[in-house]
Amino acid sequence: MKYMGGKTALLGGRLGEILLSEADSASRFVDLFGGSGAVAHFAAQHLKLPILSVDLQEYARVFASAVIERTCSLVGDPALTGWLATPVATLAGHEPIPVTADLVHAARVAAAAEPEGFITRHYGGHYFSLSQAQTLDSLYAALPASGALRTVALAALLQAASACAAAPGHTAQPFQPTATLLPYIRQAWTRDVSESARIAVEQIAPAFAAVRGEARVGDAQSVVETLQEGDLVFCDPPYSAVQYSRFYHVLEGIARGGWDEVGGKGRAPARTRRETSEFSMKSKAPAAMKKLVAGLRQCGCRAIITFPNADASNGLSANDIIAMTEDDWIVRAHYVDSVHSTLGGRSGSGPRGGRKKLKEAVLVLSPRSSVVSMPVKFPPGSIEADGDRVAAGVL
Ligand SMILES: C[S@@+](CC[C@H](N)C(=O)[O-])C[C@H]1O[C@@H](n2cnc3c(N)ncnc32)[C@H](O)[C@@H]1O
Repeated sequence: MKYMGGKTALLGGRLGEILLSEADSASRFVDLFGGSGAVAHFAAQHLKLPILSVDLQEYARVFASAVIERTCSLVGDPALTGWLATPVATLAGHEPIPVTADLVHAARVAAAAEPEGFITRHYGGHYFSLSQAQTLDSLYAALPASGALRTVALAALLQAASACAAAPGHTAQPFQPTATLLPYIRQAWTRDVSESARIAVEQIAPAFAAVRGEARVGDAQSVVETLQEGDLVFCDPPYSAVQYSRFYHVLEGIARGGWDEVGGKGRAPARTRRETSEFSMKSKAPAAMKKLVAGLRQCGCRAIITFPNADASNGLSANDIIAMTEDDWIVRAHYVDSVHSTLGGRSGSGPRGGRKKLKEAVLVLSPRSSVVSMPVKFPPGSIEADGDRVAAGVL
């Protein structure tokens, strides 16, 4: 799946090799910034270790859970086959090809008046054609009731929605029906949602974990406090100064079963309903990263941090992270070729965005064994006596 900062393409190369060799002596693999679930899926299938995957977003929990919380294949499962065969009700008479601006506006009006189906009501005529939106709603309504089957089907539905959306690789805003963008809407609206869901099931169902793991919605900073010495902790934090919850609110809406209300050109929920990350705020990202590495050092685990080897828009660079870690950790830096999607950004070519080549730093961190953290008590009345300080001592 196309995901901003997603590591799928790198896992078949050097990054995958590093993860597997570093995990050799670990008792658990933790992915603190799960995203599309690519890293957790890879680790779950290759390592005989439990995987813990964490992300602020519910859709990311669904993606990770679909593989890491399951220890057997679901290929040919009758419940999934039956789900894919869900009959789809469509509104006849809409979206004849070619799509025109008038037809797009008419589809929006018709979709908003639909009493059933939040996907049609919220996104029909915007991200999806009416029939695509209704297919997504029919598949949503027919999801298996619970358990792994529901999670796998929901993950497939999210992948299908992502593949078919008339938007530049994310869902911050749909294409608007201007003369330039109408061909892209037409292209997206002719994609087959049921076929995309079938392809996604074919990809997810055979993948399963060697050892059952856990996927959670949560803040990496809070989870760090619960980590242990045997954990190998993979950190692929945001590098953009734009919140992921802004880019992926449609996937989040579908994963949560709909927002109360959406609005604006992006059909997004109110800002206050969207998760925010300090890692995506230029003013807070450096402090957030320092806090993260300090927390990791405190729990004694080993860690791998990936970050573009360039100045990122959130104000951080791989060199900044090296500078933050090298006193307390032995840092081994690897640099691998990578391509980042500009996701419709200005440097992109065409409305679906371009690809930008860069090097990704893969920083392997082992705690320096001579450094311990201990609370230091200062005598009453001393200048330091306003609280405990944490000092680095040498054994
Ligand atoms: C660069 S992406 C990770 C991509 C992932 N490795 C993949 O291959 O798809 C960063 C992810 O971090 C999540 N995120 C941002 N801040 C977070 C936080 N404080 N705690 C947990 N997850 C966070 C975002 O929602 C996003 O999915």
